[in-house]
Amino acid sequence: MRTSKKLAIGHQKTCGCPANHLNCLTAKDWIKSQIGVWRTELDDKEFQRVFEFFYESRDVRDKQIHPAVFPVNLAKKIIGLFTHEGELVVDPFLGIGTSLVAARDLRRNAVGFDINQRYLDFIRGRLQQVPPSEGSEQLPILDDARSIDQYIEPGTIKLAFTSPPYANLLNRPRLNKSRRVRENEQYLKVEQYSQDPRDLGTLEVEEYAGEMKEIYRKILPLMKPKGHSVINVPDVWTNKVPGGRRVPVHIYVYHAMVEAGFELRNTMIWDRNNIVNRIGIFGWPSNFITMGTTFEYLLDFWRPPD
Ligand SMILES: C[S@@+](CC[C@H](N)C(=O)[O-])C[C@H]1O[C@@H](n2cnc3c(N)ncnc32)[C@H](O)[C@@H]1O
Repeated sequence: MRTSKKLAIGHQKTCGCPANHLNCLTAKDWIKSQIGVWRTELDDKEFQRVFEFFYESRDVRDKQIHPAVFPVNLAKKIIGLFTHEGELVVDPFLGIGTSLVAARDLRRNAVGFDINQRYLDFIRGRLQQVPPSEGSEQLPILDDARSIDQYIEPGTIKLAFTSPPYANLLNRPRLNKSRRVRENEQYLKVEQYSQDPRDLGTLEVEEYAGEMKEIYRKILPLMKPKGHSVINVPDVWTNKVPGGRRVPVHIYVYHAMVEAGFELRNTMIWDRNNIVNRIGIFGWPSNFITMGTTFEYLLDFWRPPD
């Protein structure tokens, strides 16, 4: 009888890049990636190839399927920056598996976790559409991120990349005016993943930060020294309290990660202006409120060298 759930998945690089290189990028592509604002489009044709997070046909933008999906192109850019071919990528909050699709495109081994059976079923169909990538595997696991250490061997993860829940800040009916003016199936819907008590999206933000810290405390020894962990989060405006409140989710996540033993290396801004469809008016004339959907943070940490 098998007693260990540990996965026998590859984590060594399979490309011929020099041992001291972080990734398979050329110096020219590395320089372009140093610009800290990553836009959905740029006028400059030369840069467009690198920075463009256009949506492609494989991207899922149907909120009935999942309310918060990032583009395959964004995942490919992060994976390309922080890994070589063959190395291991882990996504603790997998959603409908965008990071696995990107890993398959780039021949990286990858494992992702989600507690929602419906998302796992969707991922299996989604991965079947992507041609297999020789010498690498991409595995979705139906389990809590809190159990990651039961599956992954210590010192094997080169990149942990995810977009986690934003505490319970999606756990409210949508009142977004920019959507109300159109035919809008989402109006007054709760865009929450689940009401499962294990779901970090059910927690108040302070409790959420505590759980993130515990999950990443478990992930830290599974990482290779100097392995990166990139977390994609927005800040959120909530009307749960009278007058509303800005919740700086990225600051909660920063503190959780540092307390878990990670060190912040880079902050990138994902400029999403070009994918926000229509801007409604908020707060006018007395209360100035920027739209949180127009950009998100990409916080890049690493496991400090031993
Ligand atoms: C923002 S979504 C990730 C979306 C993903 N980046 C994509 O493109 O599909 C966050 C996910 O975390 C999952 N989740 C919440 N709590 C979890 C937990 N304790 N363990 C694993 N997954 C969890 C939710 O079901 C949700 O799908």
